Amino acid sequence: MNRKRLFIAGHRGLVGSALMRHYAARPEWEIITRTRAEVDLADPHAVDSFFGAEKPDYVILAAARVGGIKDSYKHPVEFLLENLKIQNHVIEAAHRHATRKLLFLGSTCIYPKQVEIPIKESSLLTGPMEPTNEAYSVAKIAGIRLCQAYRRQYGRDFIVAMPANLYGPHDNFDPEHSHVLPALLRKFHEAKRSGSPFVTLWGTGRPCREFLYVDDLADACAFLLDHYSGDDFVNVGVGQDISIREVAEIIGKVTGFSGELRWDISQPDGNPRRLLDVSKLAAMGWQARTPIEQGLGTTYRWFLDNVESARK
Ligand SMILES: NC(=O)c1ccc[n+]([C@@H]2O[C@H](COP(=O)([O-])OP(=O)(O)OC[C@H]3O[C@@H](n4cnc5c(N)ncnc54)[C@H](OP(=O)(O)O)[C@@H]3O)[C@@H](O)[C@H]2O)c1
Repeated sequence: MNRKRLFIAGHRGLVGSALMRHYAARPEWEIITRTRAEVDLADPHAVDSFFGAEKPDYVILAAARVGGIKDSYKHPVEFLLENLKIQNHVIEAAHRHATRKLLFLGSTCIYPKQVEIPIKESSLLTGPMEPTNEAYSVAKIAGIRLCQAYRRQYGRDFIVAMPANLYGPHDNFDPEHSHVLPALLRKFHEAKRSGSPFVTLWGTGRPCREFLYVDDLADACAFLLDHYSGDDFVNVGVGQDISIREVAEIIGKVTGFSGELRWDISQPDGNPRRLLDVSKLAAMGWQARTPIEQGLGTTYRWFLDNVESARK
């Protein structure tokens, strides 16, 4: 059997490890991986010689500098530069070494701060970005435009998926660097462990967000790699949002924390809603499958099993 050779860049991260789980069940694919110590994707020479030697047919670019709002606001230089370097080197090498198809990942947070809900793909660059996130967004938008430019100028089959907020095993649980769900899971876990009678959460709990279980994203990436070739990027989400209050209640159940939830309403709420329009992907025949209770349960079990080695 002639196996299709796929390089999963960032295979040990949240998305990369979900892609590894997905492709483990598909023997027609030969998976190529490199740790950062083996090939630093910020080093153009290392990337080019790796592509020259391995000549992957397919690439999913899941390596990036990723973090929560605090982290990206405090480190705009690293968020801009590291992401530009990684994506430029990988996308350029994929072109130079004639990779058949590449999938790049954008993110829901790069859409304008004020945007019509649900967020359509056509909303990108229609208004000012979220300032706390600007460096990351500028890098991601440059990556999207680079994929589109290679398609237009050289006919390269480089595609882009725009995932909603993700969560799952191998997430980052470090309060300085994490996104909202792993941060909440850890907070509730620690409150339960220390016997605290309450946890305090920011804002009113009323804002709504969309959370996609990372194995569903991996499935969508594989679906797009198999079935989609086009200039337009594609939103990947659940098509449904949930309030932070409801999420907190589910996390209370999942972690076994039975104390009180206190809401610190002196803290800002942020945007009232953030939800992707997923009709384009739904029309192609894909939809998310994992209910949030199930996804959070699996994520928490993974955290408990990996308390020592998890990023925290
Ligand atoms: N997390 C989300 O909610 C979310 C939402 C939408 C889109 N995305 C996108 O999904 C992609 C993956 O994100 P993630 O959440 O999986 O991030 P992650 O868990 O932090 O994983 C990123 C991976 O990239 C690798 N990496 C970073 N810099 C590298 C370098 N210079 N050379 C080689 N490898 C490098 C990391 O390797 P090390 O382990 O060595 O650090 C890590 O394995 C990103 O493009 C992100 O923008 C994520």
